[in-house]
Amino acid sequence: MSRELENRTAWLPQQKAYPMTVSSGPVPEPKGTEVLVRVRAVAINPCDWAVQILGLVVKAERYPYINGVDVAGEIVSVGPENTRFNIGDRVTAMATMFFSKGPSYGAFQEYMLGVDPLVAKIPDHVSFKEAAVLPLGLSTAIHQLFTKDGLALDYPRVGTPVNSKGKVVIVWGGSSSVGANAIQTAKAAGYTVAATASKKNFGLMEEIGVDYIFDYNSDNVVEEIVATLKNREPLAGIFDAIILESTIRACADIASKLEGNKHVGTVLAPGMPLPTGTPEGVKLSLNELSFIESEVGRAIWVDWLSDALADGSMKCKPNPELVGRGLEKIQDAVDLMGKGVSAKKLVVEL
Ligand SMILES: NC(=O)c1ccc[n+]([C@@H]2O[C@H](COP(=O)([O-])OP(=O)(O)OC[C@H]3O[C@@H](n4cnc5c(N)ncnc54)[C@H](OP(=O)(O)O)[C@@H]3O)[C@@H](O)[C@H]2O)c1
Repeated sequence: MSRELENRTAWLPQQKAYPMTVSSGPVPEPKGTEVLVRVRAVAINPCDWAVQILGLVVKAERYPYINGVDVAGEIVSVGPENTRFNIGDRVTAMATMFFSKGPSYGAFQEYMLGVDPLVAKIPDHVSFKEAAVLPLGLSTAIHQLFTKDGLALDYPRVGTPVNSKGKVVIVWGGSSSVGANAIQTAKAAGYTVAATASKKNFGLMEEIGVDYIFDYNSDNVVEEIVATLKNREPLAGIFDAIILESTIRACADIASKLEGNKHVGTVLAPGMPLPTGTPEGVKLSLNELSFIESEVGRAIWVDWLSDALADGSMKCKPNPELVGRGLEKIQDAVDLMGKGVSAKKLVVEL
């Protein structure tokens, strides 16, 4: 069936190409457990801007390149070994061209190959626009929170009683995409959560269940966090979703002053420098995204996400903001991302 279709793509012929080129090509065939997704919405991440505008992350020899990581759409065909999906299923999916796969696996096109385990069904009450906000924010958060090299928290499970772990996770940057997903998965695993955001985003923090909310713009935010959490539940770990040197240092400072797991997980990629001279006894770690075949990817994407979206315990946050419709609008959305966002995800419908 897919051979009869035409695939339109927004692609980058070489590093720093601007704007993206929109043209038509063949529709790929799913192999093994892969699925072919008719993309209905894509969301924009800071890395999409960094890849295209700064020419970072993706080496010159990997071009022509199809950028983008966040996708929602419907399944139009499945590989011969697929057992999870049927044609017509509505899904959210993480594009994997970023992770050394070929152009058929990039997000900014009408038909994309989805790879196990990074595809999950979405319930009818969740729109494609909403579901597109999840993939990279969620995957980045869960890798640091739940892997053995990260904070090694227990996995989320639908039905876990709220705050049943008796330990607190601190998320610095709770209104970011990665932070909002970290908060929700830590809550779903039964942890108490403290988070920082600017005052204007306290409503979002309440909506996703944050127990202790702090304004990171306060001059004394570190002291306020320590004073509030001292002599309460021990730390399960701290997650810095922002990766400014100042935020990593603040998190390390807090870890040094509270009891429990003094581990600050960051979203710095391997090869990026961690600050030196942080307090003794505090561990800092990088975040190497390696989801294909990862146990954590399967535990969240396969065993948890669809059910949690269905019962409403997982929300698609931060909220999508629709930039427009059609592949040609993706460039506008990437340009807007370069100006920065606050508690929202830029989305284009296809
Ligand atoms: N290593 C990896 O694999 C990987 C993967 C994905 C992302 N990342 C990185 O992770 C970071 C977050 O990505 P994202 O997509 O989640 O970003 P985002 O949604 O674009 O982040 C925007 C948010 O950051 C918050 N923020 C800015 N400065 C802050 C500070 N000093 N303290 C607390 N919050 C602050 C803002 O909060 P307010 O609006 O409330 O002020 C805003 O809501 C980026 O640096 C990204 O490059 C790394």
